[in-house]
Amino acid sequence: MAKEISGNEQLNVVSMLGVSKRFPGVIANDHVDFVLRQGEVHALLGENGAGKSTLMNVLAGLYRSDGGTIEVNGKAANFGSPREAIEAGIGMVHQHFMLVPSQSVTENVLLGLDEPRFRMNLSRYNKKIEEIAEQYGLHVDPAAKIWQLTVGEQQRVEILKMLYRGAEVLIMDEPTAVLAPSEIEELFKTLRSMTAQDKSIVFISHKLHEVMEISDRVTVLQKGKVTSSGIQTKDVTRADLARLMVGREVVFRVEKKLVEIGDTVLSVKNLKADNDKGLSAINGVSLTVSQGEIVGLAGVAGNGQNELAETLAGLREVLDGEIIVNDKDVTNNPVKKGIRQGISLIPADRTLVGTAPNLSVTDNMIMKNYDQEPIGQGWIVNSTEANSYASDLKEAYEIMVPTIETSVRLLSGGNLQKVILAREISSEPKLMVAVQPTRGLDVGAIEGVQKLILAQREAGAAILLISEELDELISLSDRIYVIYEGEIMGQVDDGDIDKIGQMMMGARLEHIEKEGVA
Ligand SMILES: Nc1ncnc2c1ncn2[C@@H]1O[C@H](COP(=O)(O)OP(=O)(O)O)[C@@H](O)[C@H]1O
Ligand SMILES: [Mg+2]
Repeated sequence: MAKEISGNEQLNVVSMLGVSKRFPGVIANDHVDFVLRQGEVHALLGENGAGKSTLMNVLAGLYRSDGGTIEVNGKAANFGSPREAIEAGIGMVHQHFMLVPSQSVTENVLLGLDEPRFRMNLSRYNKKIEEIAEQYGLHVDPAAKIWQLTVGEQQRVEILKMLYRGAEVLIMDEPTAVLAPSEIEELFKTLRSMTAQDKSIVFISHKLHEVMEISDRVTVLQKGKVTSSGIQTKDVTRADLARLMVGREVVFRVEKKLVEIGDTVLSVKNLKADNDKGLSAINGVSLTVSQGEIVGLAGVAGNGQNELAETLAGLREVLDGEIIVNDKDVTNNPVKKGIRQGISLIPADRTLVGTAPNLSVTDNMIMKNYDQEPIGQGWIVNSTEANSYASDLKEAYEIMVPTIETSVRLLSGGNLQKVILAREISSEPKLMVAVQPTRGLDVGAIEGVQKLILAQREAGAAILLISEELDELISLSDRIYVIYEGEIMGQVDDGDIDKIGQMMMGARLEHIEKEGVA
């Protein structure tokens, strides 16, 4: 619940007025007003590319603004470096952590500080860091090495670093993206205990439900401009915020029709595969997906999801186990053969695997059927047929692009994703493996992509949906498996978020049920 701000807490710690920041070809911040009060959690909300990180990078001394005024505690502030910012009490935790893996928590916290003899006196510093950790509920062992820590713990180290340096304002850039649900709750507790001690938080996010839950006030950015500056969160609804973010009404409910579940299409048995470094990434995964169902695969990023998708698509070698599609063993079949057997992959990396950036929309659309009639005729491609095929898809999927001759590298994320979906869906796949199909898309495009996936389910396809967005998984899936360190922890068919969350942290379903924790 958002906490009430009491009347005497109106002190402005940070005041950014008319702040602009340009990059070549783009105005990332266009006369932005942003005022942070002492003791509040202020959410900075906006879609990808709206300018949130840029604005806070300006405040935290990473970028110089091109205009406007910034005051911190009433004094003009235009920091030339993060060091200057932190000296003025402004600390930022970035999306990518900047820790030294081989060193301990304490060493990382002290790194870069003028405390030259700390190595001789580590235990004294351990104690000091433990005290700060205790004060804000940041559970982490000061003597542990960074590489031994979970991502959530590493984030706590980053926060500790800032608190140790005396941060009064903590900027968190999309901090929940790398966390499991229970870790998000922990983080929120920490943030609340910080505001209770009069510190101020900027919480950057594009997730509406989190902003509703944790923030006192919210500032919304849309394409570099503020659409709402510092409104009280309790005075707005999720739909209001979505409209401010996107600029139009957004429907949240996905409509899921009743679909008869048919034969098993995909059956994965005891699959093993390595990652690019040759380390085990998938360790004995078994799962099934049937006609007419969407099966979700939940998990914190980097637990083997991508490797699993790649083995299914024939892009990664299976070391043990088998992949059966429609009763045929397709284990380690070449990619071309996968296409013939109706397996379709919507990859996570649209630019590298999903499309050929320098080729036209048409060429990208015919990638799967350029050698089939009527497009492929003997050794040649019939360009009239290819163009009319691409035009039809462009229309049907409402892809916004000047012409079908345009290179796809010029397309926005949402339109690029539609090109891939159009191509994959029109190949009428029996099995579709979709990895993060809506990542990085704006709310409007997400709606469109989700509808396309549901339509495939209604058409009888078997769909494996791999996503780090729990909301999306729960609203689209009929069943959900949870993967952790390359193993399936269990599956639920009722979208039980507590159980899913515990499995994402490595608990096996049978243990959760035995102990009756959930
Ligand atoms: N260092 C940079 N160089 C050039 N363009 C940038 C840079 N950083 C951000 N941008 C552009 O500025 C805009 C805002 O980006 P960003 O602040 O990262 O948005 P958000 O954090 O809201 O996703 C985007 O169009 C992005 O491509
Ligand atoms: Mg950002």
